[in-house]
Amino acid sequence: MPDNVHNKQEFDNMLEREACMSETTEDQNVRVAAICDQLITLEGPLLPILHEVQEEFGYIPDGALQTIAKKLNLSRAEVHGVASFYHDFREEKAGKHVIKICRAEACQAMGADALGDQIRRHLKVDWSQTTADRKITLEPVFCLGLCACAPAAMIDGKVVGRVSADRILQKVGS
Ligand code: FES
Repeated sequence: MPDNVHNKQEFDNMLEREACMSETTEDQNVRVAAICDQLITLEGPLLPILHEVQEEFGYIPDGALQTIAKKLNLSRAEVHGVASFYHDFREEKAGKHVIKICRAEACQAMGADALGDQIRRHLKVDWSQTTADRKITLEPVFCLGLCACAPAAMIDGKVVGRVSADRILQKVGS
């Protein structure tokens, strides 16, 4: 085990990250290029391509940005700018469970900030991060269309209204 790795969990995480990164080469670029070829004729193809790449890999691999940029005749910075603007696009694979907490106005008025703080403290992560055991990813979202039942959250794709931290954590077994 390398010196900078302190326990088995960290070591496993490191291997997982390396496995993900080693994918980011030829094979991955071929798959990204194929997605571009398939969607490039759409009007405004960048967002559909980014969605499809995320669908394929579970996140937007760093190497994909360059491939997409080349295909669409854009700069890498332009593609990165769009990918980082939208909260839905991830820079790394999500954990087993994904908690999205609404941070828009109606939910904020009903305590969403405090709810987010509680969850972040409990999971020891910040927004858009995944717990060290790769079990839970916490993401912000801005309106789930459930404003009348604020504060709202989405847990593994299902919306839940009038949530509390306990209820959220119970649903993901934490
Ligand atoms: S503001 Fe949170 S669901 Fe609409």
